[in-house]
Amino acid sequence: MAKLHLITYGCQMNEYDSERVAGLLRAQRYELVADERDADLIIVNTCAIREKAEDKVFSKLGELRLLKTLNPELVIGVMGCMAQLHQEAIQRRAPGVDLVFGSPAIARVGDLVDRARRERRPVLETGEGPLVKITARPPGSSRLRAFVTVMEGCEKHCTFCVVPRTRGRERSHAPETILAEIRSLVGEGCREVTLLGQTVNAYGRDLTPPTDLAELFARVNDVAGLERIRFTTSNPYNLTPRLIAALRDVPKVCEWFHLPLQSGSDAVLERMNRGYTRARYLELVDTIRDAVPDMAFSTDLIVGFPGETEADFARTLDVVEQVRYDNVFVFRYSRRPGTPAADMADQVPDEVKASRNTRLLEVVNRVTAERHRRLAGRTLEVLVDGTSRKSAGELSGRTRCNRVVNFDGQGRVAVGDLTWVRVTEALPHSLRGELARRAEEAACLSK
Ligand code: SAH
Ligand code: F3S
Repeated sequence: MAKLHLITYGCQMNEYDSERVAGLLRAQRYELVADERDADLIIVNTCAIREKAEDKVFSKLGELRLLKTLNPELVIGVMGCMAQLHQEAIQRRAPGVDLVFGSPAIARVGDLVDRARRERRPVLETGEGPLVKITARPPGSSRLRAFVTVMEGCEKHCTFCVVPRTRGRERSHAPETILAEIRSLVGEGCREVTLLGQTVNAYGRDLTPPTDLAELFARVNDVAGLERIRFTTSNPYNLTPRLIAALRDVPKVCEWFHLPLQSGSDAVLERMNRGYTRARYLELVDTIRDAVPDMAFSTDLIVGFPGETEADFARTLDVVEQVRYDNVFVFRYSRRPGTPAADMADQVPDEVKASRNTRLLEVVNRVTAERHRRLAGRTLEVLVDGTSRKSAGELSGRTRCNRVVNFDGQGRVAVGDLTWVRVTEALPHSLRGELARRAEEAACLSK
């Protein structure tokens, strides 16, 4: 068998796509290898969301090119968002690359690789294509927690974001296709799925007949053997009362909500074209907490968006304090080619971005640590997903609110089990606990 090495950068959707590619190429007799030096084919799945992500890819491509001197038959492919965004410019900047293809061409990856090998000249395939659901997976990839893409693309056009250019229009997969994929994953031992989309709460409105994420939750909930449902990423702009009701009423949907805020300042939100105000966002959080008191929120924040003043930045700090997030991802604004914000006046200097980044992280670390401490003493449902590398008998798992818990399984529970664990210690990045006899509390976080 020929040997394939896959390198994946970026978001969960890329992880999902890489797995499909490995599955499809398996049919072309490619097996996955862990060491790039053993490979006949290396595919780099790329991310274009920030300049730093792109720099990492180009430097990796430079390294990989050297492998060609050892193995002249080696084929190097680039897929994902950078492929779609930069197209032939990739091969100009990274001359070792033989093949560049975008997401719509994934289904044809086998043919494209053959062509690159046969023709011995750069192959470029970045056109639009029909939406197809690929469910191929390499052997041994079955796992307890899996991602399932439910829609592609985004039409929100936030002024900083390159995704609408790299991932195209919003296109939802049919519920039946998604359910079939989930059933098959569950058949192989999966217990938790994360439904993926760039604006996953816009799911289904492009289908005939139209449907929505709330309806999809209800149908996924009926899959026997599946225990947990997560979903990401939602945009506050089109978050409906129906979805909030589903968060409360669909039992398998976990108390974990990634709801990107980006900025706490209305002036900045408007220039970002996010479609909501700070007040609207806070109102949504309140409504969701009224419906699901235990909800753990996580968010994305950008510092140094063009024109962001100290006063704007202070508004962001303030929302972090008010919402009391469980987890926050902080990004420094990065100018992306072709996006409206890249040409806005008053770009913020790097040192100001760096300082705001540090100050924001200080507040974030304090707030999230406070949230985690609240879990001490609680008994929580845990999906056991691994054994500890450090000590035998030690198991590790995740709560419904997505926190890692380490505990002694006492030989009574195994990987794949749902069990109850009493939290004895809340550390900054994980929890310690002990097996509890029964569900003393069903919820994740106390009110
Ligand atoms: N679909 C998601 C976001 C996808 S991108 C949403 O609805 O918000 C993931 C995160 O990267 C974004 O939430 C944003 O915080 C960050 N990001 C996107 N473009 C960026 C840029 N140009 N500079 C810095 N951060 C950016
Ligand atoms: Fe990007 Fe905004 Fe869509 S952040 S992915 S354009 S919702």
